[in-house]
Amino acid sequence: MGKVVIAIDGYSGCGKSSTAKAVAKALGYTYIDSGAMYRAVTLYFLNEHLSPGNPKDVQRGLEGIDISFQINPDTQKQETYLNGLNVEEEIRTMRVSQSVSEIAAVAEIRQAMVRQQQRLGKKKGVVMDGRDIGSVVFPEAELKVFMTADLETRAGRRQKELMEKGDLVDLEEIKTNLAERDRVDSSRAASPLLKMPDAAEIDTSNLEFEEQVRQIVDLAQKAI
Ligand code: C5P
Repeated sequence: MGKVVIAIDGYSGCGKSSTAKAVAKALGYTYIDSGAMYRAVTLYFLNEHLSPGNPKDVQRGLEGIDISFQINPDTQKQETYLNGLNVEEEIRTMRVSQSVSEIAAVAEIRQAMVRQQQRLGKKKGVVMDGRDIGSVVFPEAELKVFMTADLETRAGRRQKELMEKGDLVDLEEIKTNLAERDRVDSSRAASPLLKMPDAAEIDTSNLEFEEQVRQIVDLAQKAI
């Protein structure tokens, strides 16, 4: 059976990554978390005290970064590596969440990430989630999905996720962060988050996880 590219975009915290991962598993596809790449860049900038507003720092940052997805031998899961180190957990902290949209708004950083994402998706059979996948990374994707959910639901889910990792974060803080990221992501000049006219919209506010996965798998099978 032929393979396609599935582009999943949408607001922060509406379950894109977990859904995309499950869709990839169901179809035997490769899953690529483009947000993890922007998060890894952000971690590097924070650790190296680089400023996204300073072009020299941006250049230094991009030269110093090697991001890859590898199977963690301990968990057998595909995780994010920055310069050979596993950063999967660290990139999900509020410290990174609070700075990532500012870093992701820098055009040069986006260009470098998009190049790598396009290389990773060249072979088809890929599910990639993010903000500009259907618009910039894979405008020719056979299936584009735009996921939404109301803010309250998204914040509650994210709080539960963080809590499961032992990270207790106030619901209001999460809500503010999600809303602020949506605002910056949607209003930036460089490839803002937007729903493409050819994307299928899925509102997950009242959907069970399995149902949202099934809907996308069904759409993919029709697109093949
Ligand atoms: O998907 P996730 O919430 O982990 O993404 C973190 C941040 O990375 C987003 O809020 C956005 O600022 C940025 N991002 C982006 N373009 C993508 C994926 C993520 O700008 N394709």
